[in-house]
Amino acid sequence: MRSQSLLFALLSACGALALEAKDIVRNDKAFVPGGYIVELSSPTSKRSLSPHDDFLNALDKRAGGKFETRKKYDSPVFTGIAVQLHTPEELVDLASMPNVVAVRPIIVHAAPKPVQAHVVSGPNDPALIPDGQSTHVMTGVDKAHAQGFTGKGIKIGVLDTGIDYTHPSLGGGFGPGHKIAGGYDLVGDDYDGFNTPVPDNDPFDSCTDTTDSEHGHGTHVAGIIAADPGNEFNISGVAYGAEIHGYRVFGCAIHGSVSEDVLISAMIKAYEDGMDIITISIGVPSGWASTSIAVVAGRIAGNGRVITIAAGNAGEAGTLFSSAPATGKDVIAVASVENTLVTRQTMVSSVSHAPIPYTLASWPNITPGQPQPLPETPFPVWAPTTDPKSNDAACQPLGDDVPDLSNSVVLLRQATECSDIDQYLNIQAKGGKLVLLYASDEDILYGFFTAVKLVNAEDGEFLVSEFAKGSNITVTFPQHNGAVGVPNPETGGLVSDFSAFGPSNEVYFKPTISAPGGNITSTWPTLMGSWAILSGTSMATPFAAGSAALVLEAKGKRALRNVRGILETTSLGIPSSKAAGALPQTLAQQGTGIVNLFNALNVKTEVSPAELLLNDTANWKSTHKVTIKNTGKAKQTYKLRHQAAATAISLRSGDVSYNLYPVPLVDAPANVRLSKTSVTLAPGASTTISVTISPPKKVDPKTLPVVSGWIHVAGSRGDNVKVSYMGIAGSLRAAQVISTGNDLLVPKDGGLPAVIPLDYGELRSQRGPRNYTLDMLPIFGFSLAQGTRSVVLDLVRADTKIKSNIPNPLDAAPLTPSKRGWSWWWPGLFKPGHGHGGGNSFADVPTLGPLNAAEYVARSGFARQAPVPYFAFDFPTTFANGTAIPFGQYRLLLRALRITGDAKNAKDYDVYVSEQVGLVESLESQ
Ligand SMILES: *[C@@H]1O[C@H](CO)[C@@H](O)[C@H](O)[C@H]1NC(C)=O
Ligand SMILES: *[C@@H]1O[C@H](CO)[C@@H](O)[C@H](O)[C@H]1NC(C)=O
Ligand SMILES: *[C@@H]1O[C@H](CO)[C@@H](O)[C@H](O)[C@H]1NC(C)=O
Ligand SMILES: *[C@@H]1O[C@H](CO)[C@@H](O)[C@H](O)[C@H]1NC(C)=O
Ligand SMILES: *[C@@H]1O[C@H](CO)[C@@H](O)[C@H](O)[C@H]1NC(C)=O
Repeated sequence: MRSQSLLFALLSACGALALEAKDIVRNDKAFVPGGYIVELSSPTSKRSLSPHDDFLNALDKRAGGKFETRKKYDSPVFTGIAVQLHTPEELVDLASMPNVVAVRPIIVHAAPKPVQAHVVSGPNDPALIPDGQSTHVMTGVDKAHAQGFTGKGIKIGVLDTGIDYTHPSLGGGFGPGHKIAGGYDLVGDDYDGFNTPVPDNDPFDSCTDTTDSEHGHGTHVAGIIAADPGNEFNISGVAYGAEIHGYRVFGCAIHGSVSEDVLISAMIKAYEDGMDIITISIGVPSGWASTSIAVVAGRIAGNGRVITIAAGNAGEAGTLFSSAPATGKDVIAVASVENTLVTRQTMVSSVSHAPIPYTLASWPNITPGQPQPLPETPFPVWAPTTDPKSNDAACQPLGDDVPDLSNSVVLLRQATECSDIDQYLNIQAKGGKLVLLYASDEDILYGFFTAVKLVNAEDGEFLVSEFAKGSNITVTFPQHNGAVGVPNPETGGLVSDFSAFGPSNEVYFKPTISAPGGNITSTWPTLMGSWAILSGTSMATPFAAGSAALVLEAKGKRALRNVRGILETTSLGIPSSKAAGALPQTLAQQGTGIVNLFNALNVKTEVSPAELLLNDTANWKSTHKVTIKNTGKAKQTYKLRHQAAATAISLRSGDVSYNLYPVPLVDAPANVRLSKTSVTLAPGASTTISVTISPPKKVDPKTLPVVSGWIHVAGSRGDNVKVSYMGIAGSLRAAQVISTGNDLLVPKDGGLPAVIPLDYGELRSQRGPRNYTLDMLPIFGFSLAQGTRSVVLDLVRADTKIKSNIPNPLDAAPLTPSKRGWSWWWPGLFKPGHGHGGGNSFADVPTLGPLNAAEYVARSGFARQAPVPYFAFDFPTTFANGTAIPFGQYRLLLRALRITGDAKNAKDYDVYVSEQVGLVESLESQ
């Protein structure tokens, strides 16, 4: 149903005919202009000055005071400095300063937006899922609680919007001895991501603007971890015995954000405050483990703390779209699973029967559980047959004996002998307007009927058999208090469609695990309603953090380094759909599977490593050693078995563009050989087996198929553990990076990259040479089919000998109308990493000078919540160093390094050379 509504959005966008230049949206809010996070080498005792002072002295010499220090970091996990330059970056080549290890732009993270949010009106709110504990049942948390584990003695730091600790279910107070025992506000109410933070000691979730569901987010997250049981909703946190510390990183601005230098401070503070677990429901699509916070997150995880981070809500964009900082090494990236229960409105019949749950097939967008647009008066029930199982009801025109149906509700089993349209037409011929469908696979019914679909076919059969008895039965549709929780037949227990896909660009195993994140009821700021239902990987992440706390409590803090492996090896695989025999969902979306706490706490078997990283075919690692250890007190015999998940086809066949959701899944398993399929281990004994994996043959490597699956290890005493593998059955080095595909954003004529004049009245590419005066410059746009570690834009002479090595975008096939709706131009500029040499790195490429450059860039992609830049900016009038470009005839030279390419090898770059652009003083003279 989601894809249906997307289609509508897209079609209506199309309705506006051609895009106009004025429609271009400019959004410069992806980076702090002129801001850099500089990582410095750690201090050595020999040095007279600190690495910071050395660096600052040198910077002062070059920048002549035209800079400010935003932050200094001096921690075992990160030594560095965040600076704000007020002078062209090229003049202060930060990378060449003393002690510099890395220079990264300051990325700005938008406040997390739940996929959906509903504030609960009270215990009778029809949208509430009646069993508040359903997510605990899904994951074995209920059993862990029954065993007495609640996370006692474990400290969890929550980086978010703060926490409303006055909430009665969150302890009602703040400070030592309280549930919310500590924390810090790093930003203050007025912070918006770009202005100066005003920190204080109080991480209260203080913004109460109810129009904006991002406020209150931290309170919701905290409740998923730690809400006390015994409330009116029967909700409890996964680790309600744990000690929570709030680190507030968002202010009250609507659509506020946080810059990475502040996030790093928050992470270091949580680390130094001794948090065992740090949980972060924040991120942007990236694919790279090399953004500043992903690096710091990886270091903290490497130093033996548990870090859980949201995998991201960009499932719509397809594979290889991991969110950072979840991409960080050793970080637990958490995917979302749908609740097994949904709320459904019910009807009541005049014969004795439990309330009958239904959905409205005619208006799919009505929230289930909310009052439905149906009259509340009783309707007489009529059926075209007395056989509840009839497969041809109303297939023939209804006879003369059939009464006028305009005031009845018609019970209708979907026929197999004729089309449903025939059934509807025959009922309509008798005046029928309202239909009760049962055993129907229709999701949506358009047109002439009000159609109600029964959740359970048995209810329809019951009503038909009552009708057959000759009883005059009626049904009514109560408008209030008519909601019940029913098993979610379509998506319950499946990976949420919004949950972002991995793996990372370096083919690391992302996401790591999944946890419930669809329709989660939890605490909400008391001033905003106290309880709310939210969906997102933001909700799955604290669930995983709470799960980690239970593992730590049960196994002791010596397990800190093993928590990720324990959660992975004991998780449960998730199918790709509810259909019988459906292949397992790709691990690129589910991770190893949904956490299973009962298993995690009780198995007496360890397997390692938890992840087998296959890489891509150019770097394929086929042989892996897996160690199995019996940690129990009794002998176990283990059976080993391979199970493949569905192979996800990343790219559209014959195209450079990614498949959007739903990503095509095929039955094309990797070939897996195990050196042994049975081993017996005495108590305390371990053994190593070898696993050899080769890519499948029957897939097109150009489509970058993601292969994944598990080696299950099943012990004779009931232990079930596994190791998981993931890899790409194609070469990333071979995949084109600069997009020339007809994906998402293209001018009306020709594809990207393109020089696009603004005086055509619509977006069309320049063909052939053209002159421009400085007051009528064109824009330049391109998009990235793949992420890249380095993209550089240089100016070259018009008569340059350099040639494009990618297909000419001017030859791009015209767009099909359905694709033209996506018009994203974002952001206005892409910022140079640092004194990069500006890309003039190949002696054999004669350029006039660098214009712009960026490093570790995500691929372009559409996702409702997280679109990634289609770069578009005004034709530059200056070089990167601020020097004006003289009048003359030029071309733009765009180069992007292929994934896994060698930055020093010119052959590893995609090259695009633009049409000829003349910068002239005036056009009259011609
Ligand atoms: C609360 O949840 C538990 C676990 O699912 C269930 O057994 C119990 O009946 C629920 N209580 C209420 C009052 O809903
Ligand atoms: C895959 O290979 C590339 C190229 O050698 C390397 O950079 C990357 O780290 C490898 N990935 C993994 C998961 O080992
Ligand atoms: C549950 O959440 C999903 C998104 O995760 C949404 O589509 C659905 O409408 C929600 N509500 C119910 C009551 O199922
Ligand atoms: C651009 O202007 C130059 C003179 O500055 C002229 O020689 C050239 O023909 C012009 N090109 C086009 C395409 O108009
Ligand atoms: C700026 O860059 C351009 C192109 O590389 C170069 O020609 C010029 O000398 C530079 N200006 C300064 C002040 O460094």
